[in-house]
Amino acid sequence: MDLFEAIEKRFSNRKFLEKQISDEGLSKILKAGMQAPVGRGKYEDMHITVIQNKDLLDEISSLADRSVFYNAPTLVIISARDDGHGLDKENSACVAMNTLLAATALGLGSIYLNLVIGLIKEHKEVLNKLNLPKEFIPIVGVGLGYADGSHFKEHSIEIDYM
Ligand SMILES: Cc1cc2nc3c(=O)[nH]c(=O)nc-3n(C[C@H](O)[C@H](O)[C@H](O)COP(=O)(O)O)c2cc1C
Repeated sequence: MDLFEAIEKRFSNRKFLEKQISDEGLSKILKAGMQAPVGRGKYEDMHITVIQNKDLLDEISSLADRSVFYNAPTLVIISARDDGHGLDKENSACVAMNTLLAATALGLGSIYLNLVIGLIKEHKEVLNKLNLPKEFIPIVGVGLGYADGSHFKEHSIEIDYM
């Protein structure tokens, strides 16, 4: 699938099948994440956590009374260390976006997740289980897995040409 097709097919998947993604697919997706642009080229200020452990996923799931990652069998947490330039959110979003498109290109479902991050940060016992390096803060979650159907919607954003 070429890039434009992946962009056209990507959607936020909120219904995952139980089937886990392959290690090979995961590795391609993570590599795509690492190829994202990062402000000042400070890749050492970024960290990726892959959660596939069912017990930990269930524990995170149980933190809220509504679904925050839709039972995605793979939950990727992108964390960053703010070096004073305030680029941690932008950098994490860039990394996340590459993973979403790579997942789509591999025929997988994916979703950008914000709510799950707030929950993890509120629950220190879960945050500690991520074992993040010192000063790193979780910024973006990405859910990955096989989608149960497509929910693609076309969007538009107003453009001014000057
Ligand atoms: C910064 C950001 C935060 C988001 N957080 C969540 C979230 O916590 N839960 C969720 O279900 N979707 C979340 N989304 C997905 C958006 O709702 C979704 O991208 C948007 O509605 C457009 O739909 P589409 O991705 O299917 O094209 C988030 C997207 C972005 C970019």
